[in-house]
Amino acid sequence: MKKVIVMLVVALLAAVLFAQGKSETKKPAAESTKKSTVQQNEGGKKMPKKLVAYFSASGTTARVAKELAEAAKADLYEIRPETKYTSNDLDWRDKSSRSSVEMADKKSRPKLADKNAKIADYDVIFIGFPIWWYVAPHIINSFLEAYDFSGKKVVLFATSGGSGFGNTVKELQPSAPKAQIIEGKLLNGRIDKAELAKWAEQF
Ligand SMILES: Cc1cc2nc3c(=O)[nH]c(=O)nc-3n(C[C@H](O)[C@H](O)[C@H](O)COP(=O)(O)O)c2cc1C
Repeated sequence: MKKVIVMLVVALLAAVLFAQGKSETKKPAAESTKKSTVQQNEGGKKMPKKLVAYFSASGTTARVAKELAEAAKADLYEIRPETKYTSNDLDWRDKSSRSSVEMADKKSRPKLADKNAKIADYDVIFIGFPIWWYVAPHIINSFLEAYDFSGKKVVLFATSGGSGFGNTVKELQPSAPKAQIIEGKLLNGRIDKAELAKWAEQF
């Protein structure tokens, strides 16, 4: 009888220890469900998750943004103003047009139509826009200020009538002080898809 009781106690202890061990091995699995933005490719190489976010007033940057998203295997998000720009709004010869007034005031922050970009899910965010008055339109500042870009890599791309980025990075950095903002590429004219993919891959 004593033997039976001893065996039962031993079995019970073994069961308890086994259950404990199991719950401990479960821990890392639970931790691994934490949100990770880094994917792995077939070779096991870490692949950062990429987003192409763009603002386009008359369609040129939108076309380029779609090509870039395809080339970079990135998701696409359109930065839309709450109030669309009309062609009168875009008249740079008119000092009183909406774009002229906004761009003359460094503190202007045109309102966004939504705040649905899932910035937290991405490591690299390409941001595209038309060059306005030698820099980024102020809605790009609005966009940067609407989310937490801390630790994110922000790569700029733009279309223009010929101007480069000028002081764009300097004017955007205060809107996302903890982001790494990189002056990327002007994407005017014909775009070679393979070249674009190669360029985007480095980020
Ligand atoms: C208000 C305004 C200001 C602009 N300022 C410049 C400029 O400083 N330099 C330049 O090369 N092009 C300038 N452009 C031309 C645009 O950058 C160019 O047409 C761009 O490709 C338009 O892109 P979108 O169709 O995506 O809006 C300006 C256009 C507008 C409407």
